[in-house]
Amino acid sequence: MGWRKKVSAGLFKRRISNMGILFHQETKTFHLYNKEVSYIIRIMENGQLENLYYGKAIRDREDFTHLHEEMSRPLTSVCIPEPGVLNMQCTKQEYPVYGTGDYRSPAFTVKQESGSKVVNFTYVSHEMYHGKKAITPLPAVYTNSDEEACTLELHLHDQMMHTDLVLTYTIFEEYPVITRHAAVCHKGEEPITLEKVMSMSVEFQDMDFEMVQLSGAWARERYVKERKLEMGIQAIQGINGTGCGAEHNPFLALKRPEATEQQGEVYGFSLVYSGNFLAQTEVSTFDMTRVMLGIHPEGFSWKLEKGETFQTPEAVLVYSDKGLNKMSQVYHRLYRRNLMRGNWKEQPRPILLNNWEATYFDFTEEKILDIAAKAKEAGVELFVLDDGWFGTRNDDYRGLGDWVVNLEKLPDGIAGLSRKVEALGLKFGLWVELEMVNKDSDLYRAHPDWIIGVPGRFESHGRHQHVLDFSRKEVVDYIYEMISKVIRESRISYIKWDMNRYMTEPYSRGAAADEQGKVMHRYILGVYDLYTRLTQEFPEILFESCASGGARFDPAMLFFAPQTWTSDDTDASERAKIQYGTSYVYPLVSMGSHVSAVPNHQMFRSTPLSTRANMAYFGTFGYELDLNLLSEEELKQVKEQVAFMKKYRKLIQVDG
Ligand code: GLA
Repeated sequence: MGWRKKVSAGLFKRRISNMGILFHQETKTFHLYNKEVSYIIRIMENGQLENLYYGKAIRDREDFTHLHEEMSRPLTSVCIPEPGVLNMQCTKQEYPVYGTGDYRSPAFTVKQESGSKVVNFTYVSHEMYHGKKAITPLPAVYTNSDEEACTLELHLHDQMMHTDLVLTYTIFEEYPVITRHAAVCHKGEEPITLEKVMSMSVEFQDMDFEMVQLSGAWARERYVKERKLEMGIQAIQGINGTGCGAEHNPFLALKRPEATEQQGEVYGFSLVYSGNFLAQTEVSTFDMTRVMLGIHPEGFSWKLEKGETFQTPEAVLVYSDKGLNKMSQVYHRLYRRNLMRGNWKEQPRPILLNNWEATYFDFTEEKILDIAAKAKEAGVELFVLDDGWFGTRNDDYRGLGDWVVNLEKLPDGIAGLSRKVEALGLKFGLWVELEMVNKDSDLYRAHPDWIIGVPGRFESHGRHQHVLDFSRKEVVDYIYEMISKVIRESRISYIKWDMNRYMTEPYSRGAAADEQGKVMHRYILGVYDLYTRLTQEFPEILFESCASGGARFDPAMLFFAPQTWTSDDTDASERAKIQYGTSYVYPLVSMGSHVSAVPNHQMFRSTPLSTRANMAYFGTFGYELDLNLLSEEELKQVKEQVAFMKKYRKLIQVDG
């Protein structure tokens, strides 16, 4: 089946000599390799898959079974007929399931019609090919040419459920990167309900690691936290429904205790997803470590009828033998070249000025043009109009959802203002928050059932707003129509796509009772759908994602919007910690970073103008203040900063 019929092992290797996937028929072993990394999988005696090795590249051999450690102990259960001794409790597994004697946390749980949750996916066939397939509508890393990578698909089947499981692995030639995802296709007559489907699970024979995570809160996003692995489970998660969150980033790394920035072994695990996630390590009492990454099972249940498939998001695994710095460099390059898309991919970013901290909601067209004119004088290239331009949005109590310009503030509309800004010699950008609604809005009055919430229960609010039910296509369609009209009529070069609250009372009035476990994932698919429509229709627009600052800074967003507002906290000193942590995974070109006024509006701290710029250079660079309020001397400095960034932004953002 599959690859063996398509291309011989020799041909596959010769064509791309530094990278390949080998299958050793005799020992039923797969070896994915490039110059830096090896990943070895074996089909075990029970037909399940063993995760034999993941780490520094090792020479290929026919037989890798010396890497299998047999540990039979009293209390372990043997899962093959006697005299076999194979047990799941002490075996490193590729995709552990529930019910056959492995008492660690499984990667997959399912409820069957019989009530049983016992599963046994065994190997059926495999396929190998050059390049990498998309997993649309989910975002994923892609190849620019088939020569860059090769892919292994392992096809497994559970005979009792009549369900297929496909585990997909892609290895790249140039990077120590392996991507993984899983898909479940149900073929049985009776439906099944998926309760947990992780994107990946990897195991190590030892526990000599520190777990690195990026955690924090609003205004202190992605601080680097490290802790030693111990027996038992250590995990981070996001379960707010609308984004990965300010609390924990969908990423963890395992580093050897002696590893530093420049040396030592580090394994990175990053999830290309914006919704609920779980990133977990589990150390067994035999000192083995299991790492899992995927959609969080909390709030998730996915009924599959015959013929239906569920596709997980993608996990991106990076192996570094040269410390944290190399891991970051690999993520940066991969995400810049193989994840970001569109006209702005690998392009230096325009220097912008955003009016939010200059005016908040209080502006007129005259005031905006005044700020824009000064920005132009300083060499700024793009003016961004933030919140407050639509409906009755003069504060954050009302107007969200009504994407119609407020003619009292802007008599010539966005169409007129954008043309006037362009006449000044600047590009024009606009803020939107498309996933939300205030109850005091025409949209809510017309469609009160379009918000997420349980009929009859209190509907929690945040910043006086509610979450629109993007799991429903008609809601996404409506918002698309409204906002695309504004864009079509105007001259818009940039959009800041904000999202300012987490989901509560997760329930869709548009879904049946047995579909409610799908709502949070479908919500995120709705967000991706709207992004897809807008980026396809307006490919020249530069999108910047934002979520109360940096609460949705994840790889999936970069697939649609190649930059993200890193944090609402614009204080230079605070930003040093935030941007440092963010840079563990995300490239500088993706980090929105601006010079703002002092005393800083979030921290009330005053830092020199030069310090603020020195921090903002390490990102997209821009200003978040009214330059009219600066002294002559300060304005001179700003002009020098802008000139400096224009000279070096290619080096900082794109090269390397
Ligand atoms: C969020 C964003 C800010 C600003 C405001 C506008 O807080 O993070 O940058 O756009 O919304 O309401």
